[in-house]
Amino acid sequence: MRLLHLSDLHLCSSTDAIIYGINPFDNLQKAIGNIRAFKDTIDFCVITGDISNDGSKESYELADTALSLLPFPVYVTNGNHDDYHNLIDTKHRKLTFCPWVTRQGINFLFLNSVANAEDGTNRSKGLLSDKELERVRRVKDQNNPTIILMHHPVLTTGSWMDRRILINRDDFLSVVASIPQVVAVLSGHNHRSFKNRIGTCLFSTSPSISTSYSDQLRPYEEAFSPGFDLLTIEADITYNTINL
Ligand SMILES: [Fe+2]
Ligand SMILES: [Fe+2]
Repeated sequence: MRLLHLSDLHLCSSTDAIIYGINPFDNLQKAIGNIRAFKDTIDFCVITGDISNDGSKESYELADTALSLLPFPVYVTNGNHDDYHNLIDTKHRKLTFCPWVTRQGINFLFLNSVANAEDGTNRSKGLLSDKELERVRRVKDQNNPTIILMHHPVLTTGSWMDRRILINRDDFLSVVASIPQVVAVLSGHNHRSFKNRIGTCLFSTSPSISTSYSDQLRPYEEAFSPGFDLLTIEADITYNTINL
C-alpha cells in the first residue's frame, strides 16, 4: 500500500492570503502538481490537521475543491488551527472525517489530540483525553495492523519544538508499547519532518505543506522546505519525503 501523508496546509478564506511570507494556497497547488506525478501509485491520502489557518468554512471548501483533483480518497483529522465544527459540518466532496477506517487489511485510527483552553479556544500543545486514550487501548482487541494518526507529535527532538507536542506522551507511549498491532504513529504540527522508531513502530512527523520550521533556527523562523511524505506499507514501512 502507498500512503500519501500531508499536513498543515494552513489555508485561509482567500486564495491570495499570505501567512509568514508565503501563500499557503499556492503551496498546496504546487504540492498537488508534484503528487500528480505519483498519483497512480497512491492508494489513499491522510491529512494530520491544520488544514485551515483561520478555521473558516471557506478555507475547508478551498481544500476540498483543490484536493478533488486527486483520484484517491482523502481522510483528515483536526489540528489546533482547525475549527472542529467547520471541518466536520461542511459537506465536503473529498475530505472525509471519520474515527477510523480499514484499507487493505490495515486499520487507520484517527485521534483528536487538540486540547481546549479555559476560554474554549484551542491550545497549541496537544493532549489526548481519557476517551481518546481508551480508543488506543482498544486496538489490542483487533487483529489488523493499526496506524494511528493525530495532529500532535509524540517524540521529543531536543529542540524548541518539544514545547509544542503531546503533553501526555508518556501515557500514550506506555499504551502503545503494550500493543504490537500499532505499526506506526503519524503526526504533523511541528512543520518539520522527523522520523524515529521505537521497536518496530514508526513515529513519523511529516513536513508542512505551508510554512516550514527547523530545530536549528529560531522558533517559527521560516526554513523554506515545505513538503509531504509518501509511505510504502508492506512487511515494513518505508518513507520518502518530497520537498516542494
Ligand atoms: Fe500547523
Ligand atoms: Fe498545529
